[in-house]
Amino acid sequence: MLEAIQSAPRDAILGLTAAFREDSRSEKINLSVGVYQDETGKTPTLECVRVAEQRLAEAATSKSYLPIPGAPEYAEVVQKLAFGADNGAVQSGRIATAHTPGGTGALRVASDFIKANLPNATLWLSDPTWPNHPNIFAAAGVPMESYPYFNKESNDLAIGPMLEAIKQMPAGDVILLHGCCHNPTGIDPTADQWKQIAEAVYAQGLLPMLDFAYQGFAEGIEKDAVGLRTFAQAGQELLLCSSFSKNFGLYRERVGALSIVCPSADAVSAVQSQMNRVIRCNYSNPPAHGGAIINCVLRDEALRATWANEVTTMRERINGIRQQFVDTLAAKGVPGDYSFITQQRGMFSFTGLTKDQVEALREKHAIYIVGSGRINVAGITPSNVDRVAEAIGEVVGK
Ligand code: LMR
Repeated sequence: MLEAIQSAPRDAILGLTAAFREDSRSEKINLSVGVYQDETGKTPTLECVRVAEQRLAEAATSKSYLPIPGAPEYAEVVQKLAFGADNGAVQSGRIATAHTPGGTGALRVASDFIKANLPNATLWLSDPTWPNHPNIFAAAGVPMESYPYFNKESNDLAIGPMLEAIKQMPAGDVILLHGCCHNPTGIDPTADQWKQIAEAVYAQGLLPMLDFAYQGFAEGIEKDAVGLRTFAQAGQELLLCSSFSKNFGLYRERVGALSIVCPSADAVSAVQSQMNRVIRCNYSNPPAHGGAIINCVLRDEALRATWANEVTTMRERINGIRQQFVDTLAAKGVPGDYSFITQQRGMFSFTGLTKDQVEALREKHAIYIVGSGRINVAGITPSNVDRVAEAIGEVVGK
């Protein structure tokens, strides 16, 4: 029975990291997967996490199951961090939250929830988007369409075409937006554009879903929630997929959450029960460790301050290396204006490199970037920036 099975295609992002590991060239550089590296090329365990883990280990009493949606105290800190403690939906108990294994887990629970409860809804994705988005929603059988997002010529948000597209979407559909640090473009709406988008989405009778995986990586922990809070302010319904892989450096712990803002506190229990049903037949209940760390850090004033400083350090390093990268490209005489790289936010830069150029970077220079031309800027360090810039110069035909 198994003989006839064909190989699945390599994953667009994680498949590259697997290929990178197999590459025997010592000078290889991995700028594909969105994982933060410090200036020495390491992905450190955050200090706040290290302290929280020690406390948790000392206080550990049981490894019994968590409830299906995870620990209620985790749900509470997740809601307050994303929406703000004074948000009306948080205060009036209008949000159903489930602790999920990572942001991908949140998206998958959301997709099964949509398929089961909103069976006629089509999901609208930005063009471009994270390559795993369509995989997740296809696995759940949710039909998909895309809306324009990026203006290649100006390296900016295609706000006009995006708003026009929203006005054509059928009521009852779901639109997926990136909460901040859009993956892969690094281009986010301004606060004013968020208002226009939220108004258009609600006027059209759509259900917004925000994928919020980089809170703190654009401008700051609070500032990066502007899009989400613009949507949440209107007292409307929305879905939020949170991830703590990047901003807590908890990648392998798989910690995230799905929050659904309901129209009334009464609607919460039915929505929560439908989320629980999806979770029970996927993974039953979440792994505890990552959520316990988040809960411990966010509830302790000193640890929370340490965390905020560590997020600032990561953000500032990325922004600093963006500038250094642009300066180095110019110093090496690489043709073209790359100053747009300093305007992009978060870990990624959408460089405009073609598929052939991406392939040449990998084959000739052992530099791995995603096929769309997306570079993980957080993988560029003072010691590899020269080589990356020189290699790009060569593939673009300096
Ligand atoms: C990325 O886009 O590189 C990250 O979100 C990691 C992943 O799982 O793809």
